[in-house]
Amino acid sequence: MRIKRNTYQKICHVIASNIRDLVKHHDFSVLGLATGSTPIGIYKELSYMKDTDFSNTLTYNLDEYVGLDKHHSQSYEHFMNKHLFGKLTFHSNHFPTEKLLPYYDAMIENSKGIDIQILGIGTNGHIAFNEPGTPRDSKSRIVDLTENTIKDNSRFFDSMDEVPTQARTMGIDTIMKSKRIYLIAHGKHKKDILEKAINGDITPEIPASFLQEHPNCEIYYSE
Ligand code: PGA
Repeated sequence: MRIKRNTYQKICHVIASNIRDLVKHHDFSVLGLATGSTPIGIYKELSYMKDTDFSNTLTYNLDEYVGLDKHHSQSYEHFMNKHLFGKLTFHSNHFPTEKLLPYYDAMIENSKGIDIQILGIGTNGHIAFNEPGTPRDSKSRIVDLTENTIKDNSRFFDSMDEVPTQARTMGIDTIMKSKRIYLIAHGKHKKDILEKAINGDITPEIPASFLQEHPNCEIYYSE
């Protein structure tokens, strides 16, 4: 697999333009969306696309913390409202809430599957909250976050103690069924893990390595 290197702005522009083209040329589209610092630039680009009608587009977010109210400043629902959903109107937006989690995979399948899935990568190789050790056939479920992830995400909280220790996540199996995937690694601290995930062995110890088996996955890196 080839890693495409470019500036963060350029990568975000290309991916947002591809999303716009998908939505423009189809009566109905399904997007899989990620949170975290990585996709913010894509959402910024999309939010300028006022000439594109997203009202026939469904979204499914990858994950959500357990134990945070959706109005909490660090909930992923709050994040998405702030960066995208408050700016563009989609047909409907879904999160793996406590209520929807048992049906999440079936809902996605019944929506004809995800056309474009955006992914970041954790410094431990996780995709969504599929932490090291996650099998390839994992479904959407509640997971325990690793120490590494809690530490990485503590930058968004006042202290480590406030970071939730569990989350609800889309499984690897559901992610792998997406028709097209864009994985973005942003920052030098992601360089080594990206290299291992994309050019190393395919192993549950680096969940992102399963993407090597996806037929339509593009990998981007910016420093
Ligand atoms: P980040 O997180 O975009 O905030 O670096 C990515 C991830 O953990 O998947």
